[in-house]
Amino acid sequence: SKIHAFQKTLLDWYDHNKRDLPWRRDHDPYHVWISEIMLQQTQVHTVIPYYERFMGEFPSVADLANADEGRLMKAWEGLGYYSRARNLQKAARQIVQDYDNVWPRDIAELQKLAGIGPYTAGAIASIAFNQPVPAVDGNAFRVFSRLLEIDDEISKPQTRKIFEQVISKIISQERPGDFNQAIMDLGSSYMTAANPDSDHSPVKAFNQAYIDGVELNYPVKNKKPR
Ligand code: ADE
Repeated sequence: SKIHAFQKTLLDWYDHNKRDLPWRRDHDPYHVWISEIMLQQTQVHTVIPYYERFMGEFPSVADLANADEGRLMKAWEGLGYYSRARNLQKAARQIVQDYDNVWPRDIAELQKLAGIGPYTAGAIASIAFNQPVPAVDGNAFRVFSRLLEIDDEISKPQTRKIFEQVISKIISQERPGDFNQAIMDLGSSYMTAANPDSDHSPVKAFNQAYIDGVELNYPVKNKKPR
């Protein structure tokens, strides 16, 4: 089927071309979580040294839960959006106290943790726990809207659900974490917002917007004329 062909093409490409990133060395939910929170407002090349230092200072959820606030803020200095760091410590304390230091696997349960929304819950559930759930961030909106010419406005709150449903049908059941991370890598290489290089993209045959020459119309941000 077309879905199977897409999965195989994407994962074969990922296997040979995935970025060697420090949070990809294992599937520890703590590692996945910290990296995903750092990556929310900050680019990969900036995050790498912060991530390495952070893991040196706070190697486990318990270390983070018990961290001195000044040390935590110092470790975050330069990343900005300090509420992220405060939420990290809140969630670390929830895991230690409410969950007996055992990560919940359920995406609804993950979203009860401070600072963890649908995207981060999907990333942790798929990458750390191998559950076939989507992780819909800006990359996923852009990549899937182009592949399938999805015309829903991404700013509308209902649109996330539509993408989650579509991606749920396409995601690899065997390798959901790699599938989601392959979409992230595609979104930051061949399928960028302003300068896509779809001529050379491994999935160009599946990219309907590219085939139709309308890639830059996607994702749809606002259909109304200004
Ligand atoms: N951007 C957000 N999450 C990412 C991840 N796990 N790997 C690379 N880029 C990302």
